[in-house]
Amino acid sequence: MGSKPETSISHNLRIILFPFPFQGHINPMLQLANLLYSKGFSITILHTNFNAPKISNYPHFTFISILDNDPEDKRFSKSSLIDFAPNFIFKQDGADVLRKELELLLALEKDKPVSCLITDAFWHFTQSVADSLNLPRLVLRTSSLYSTIIFSSIPLLDDRGYFTLDDSHLEEQVSEFPLLKVKDILKIGIKSNKDPYAELLSDMIKQTKASSGIIWNSFNELEETELERIQHEFPVQSFLIPFPKYLTSSLSSLLDQDQTVIHWLDQQSTESVLYVSFGSISQVNEKEFLEIAHGLVNSKQPFLWVVRPGFVKGSTWLESLPDEFPGEKGRVVKWAPQQEVLAHEATGAFWTHSGWNSTLESVCEGVAMICSPFRGDQSLDARYISDAVRVGVYLENGFQREEISGAINRVMVDEEGKEIRERVRVLKQKADVSLMKSGSSYESLESLIDYMCSF
Ligand code: UDX
Repeated sequence: MGSKPETSISHNLRIILFPFPFQGHINPMLQLANLLYSKGFSITILHTNFNAPKISNYPHFTFISILDNDPEDKRFSKSSLIDFAPNFIFKQDGADVLRKELELLLALEKDKPVSCLITDAFWHFTQSVADSLNLPRLVLRTSSLYSTIIFSSIPLLDDRGYFTLDDSHLEEQVSEFPLLKVKDILKIGIKSNKDPYAELLSDMIKQTKASSGIIWNSFNELEETELERIQHEFPVQSFLIPFPKYLTSSLSSLLDQDQTVIHWLDQQSTESVLYVSFGSISQVNEKEFLEIAHGLVNSKQPFLWVVRPGFVKGSTWLESLPDEFPGEKGRVVKWAPQQEVLAHEATGAFWTHSGWNSTLESVCEGVAMICSPFRGDQSLDARYISDAVRVGVYLENGFQREEISGAINRVMVDEEGKEIRERVRVLKQKADVSLMKSGSSYESLESLIDYMCSF
């Protein structure tokens, strides 16, 4: 997989893409951009200075920095969605800057017109800007269809009082969504429909429905029933394309990936290693960190653990771990080439925070999961993967060493794990088949391109 994909045709059309500036949002947007480039479109990427993409990896794209933000500005010092640029997201201060930039771009290269704007679903204010310029806007939704359906039902769930239930109700089923338990809903991290995060989700849903179409990082065979519901509730076309099947997300990694892990994996037996990573934003406290470390060692299975600097609140990196850690069987790194690790034959399972990119990358490589969601969409995706698709085990009660080593052995050693691994292998094959001519993902990509050429 090179950085510059082959392109044989030219549509003489430009596409402008605007990713939300976090790793889990930048990766799928740049995968989509590369895919569209390979299909003959010229690519312009709008980006913020905060978490600016690795421009040197994409010499075939035009990059334009907008929203004059300053990485030293204290608004950007916390890496949570809510702390990021509230003025841009909630008060729409970014709209004027974006409109001016788009006006300039639309006036350029008249022989190569702009087909459409593609923005992350979280940039909801971009819909009114696009409308004012008569520019079609497509939305890239970087999470699952399932979690988006639940998010669109937050007002209903709030009306029914779910967000204020006390701990005695945690294990109860949510009657409106029988797959879910009350604790899954509470883990989203909102207290009411009026929370800033709930308002962001509500605006996201509203402006996604007002867009010209939705691109999902998924495939029909993974979320078939959910697709029917989305088509019913969202009055625009949906295009499901599993990006990890086409391109690696490693190209757009903001952190340097430790490539030596591949050599380390080469020395391990087939399907023997548990890969552990909790994404680009999640954090644990020191007690949880130690429980994870003990759970890993007690499982007696080889493991490769990504501990991102900043993962442990109040620590720089590994200083709270005992000296003898990780022992003979373990390896700890700061950041890994995740998709390549998942594709390696030594990788036997993935203990994940159930971020949607990680989940889909795992499914696309046929790797079984242990799910430890933190917040947002993750608890919904964890439940879906463990109880609906049944390709993972849900660690439901936080980080406790006995439960952790038990779950690792269930997936890596026990009969149950063999069945889970077989199911995820079959799912991977379905993803492979969906890419072939007449397959669902192939058709989806072709219709997206026809649609973009029709504007
Ligand atoms: C978050 C949400 O959890 C996710 O559901 C939402 O859709 C986007 O924002 P994040 O927490 O970063 O994302 O997790 P995830 O969606 O899994 O994305 C992480 C990305 O970083 C993946 O593409 C993964 O391959 C990459 N990664 C992770 C690395 O390249 N190296 C690592 O060591 C760990």
